[in-house]
Amino acid sequence: PKPNGDSTAMLMKSYACQRRTPLKHHNSFLTEALEILAQNADYNDNEGRSVAFRRAASVLKALPRRVRCMQDLRWLPCLGDHSQRVIKEILEDGSSREVESTRQSEQYQAMKALTGIFGVGVRTADRWFREGLRSPDDLIRTGQQLNREQQAGVQYYDDLQKPVTKAEADVISDMVEKAVHAVLPGAEIQLMGGFRRGKEVGHDVDFLITHPEEGKEEGLMPKITNWLKEQGLLLYQKTTRNSYLEKMDGPARASSNMDRFERCFSIFKLQKSAASCKSSSAASAEDVSTGRESEGPAEHHPEASGWRAVRVDLVVSPYSQFAFATLGWTGSKLFERELRRWAGQEKHMSLSSHALYDSKQNLYLRAKTEEEIFAHLGLEFIPPSERNA
Ligand code: CTP
Ligand code: MN
Ligand code: MN
Repeated sequence: PKPNGDSTAMLMKSYACQRRTPLKHHNSFLTEALEILAQNADYNDNEGRSVAFRRAASVLKALPRRVRCMQDLRWLPCLGDHSQRVIKEILEDGSSREVESTRQSEQYQAMKALTGIFGVGVRTADRWFREGLRSPDDLIRTGQQLNREQQAGVQYYDDLQKPVTKAEADVISDMVEKAVHAVLPGAEIQLMGGFRRGKEVGHDVDFLITHPEEGKEEGLMPKITNWLKEQGLLLYQKTTRNSYLEKMDGPARASSNMDRFERCFSIFKLQKSAASCKSSSAASAEDVSTGRESEGPAEHHPEASGWRAVRVDLVVSPYSQFAFATLGWTGSKLFERELRRWAGQEKHMSLSSHALYDSKQNLYLRAKTEEEIFAHLGLEFIPPSERNA
């Protein structure tokens, strides 16, 4: 008879989209270490290595209990030699030398600080790093050429570093709803990204907007941003057509309604009074239950202005694509990636935030709900709160 732990391990599916991954799990002491190595691989433009570490971490997130010894890992998928070495060292010594030296390295720290600036990707950060720059202050000091996005990123750096709370996200939701309904009554707005998966904090707030009458959503984004600008609620915005069109590997005829998929990367001006009322009551409620020390607003450094900057992503989708857009913008990023890999490798289908194409039948598979998309893909439905892969 097999010990209890083994049967869970043997049943562990190999694609993250086949598994339930809760937000809170039992192995963060291992997953945080593996994700540092993944992050470092990203900084070194090594995508394959990054994904390998992220898949390994994700498997551990889905385990029902804490890993105690290497035996517990028998039968588990996605654990490569390197990940196993790191795990073994942490189990035996309490930490991994490779992880700790990575964490302390000048390159890792500088890349983290530089890519942490809104509008700065790995390529730009790497160029700056090789020029000797280490932080946003270095950029200002040396008078680096910055585009409009990066200027905003540097200007609001401190605010954008602070995690956005659920309470703040709720206030932003009200603002977005007001703006959208002012310019298009009947439009539907949905909170996406990490907050839809049940996270308590995020690096931004993501929204998906649609209208049940197809076509009504066309040209909506500029109307929304203009309304917000008039109210003085927008610090920065850039509306773009979705570049997915160019990158897409599916058939070209999908393109007809893709150029209508609008996206806006923005920075909102959030009055602190409104948000901190909600967040302080939420925080004190939590303090009671967890017994943690309060980190009330008094401990922050309120600016004289009384507002903070918050990153907000807005996406407008035609109603017919809403289910695909919802699935595509809920995340996590690894869960999305695994969904697309599953579709391609196991089903000969091509999944995007717009559509699902079946290469065998040579047709698009329609869906009104996320449940229908999972069914098309031959997957058990995984609710958003268990997509924290
Ligand atoms: N997304 C995307 N294209 C981008 C950026 C994001 O399709 N250029 C999708 C991601 O796949 C993800 C969702 O939008 O599903 C949210 O992305 P993001 O806000 O970066 O991540 P979150 O999971 O919301 O994490 P956080 O709480 O840190 O914001
Ligand atoms: Mn987000
Ligand atoms: Mn986002």
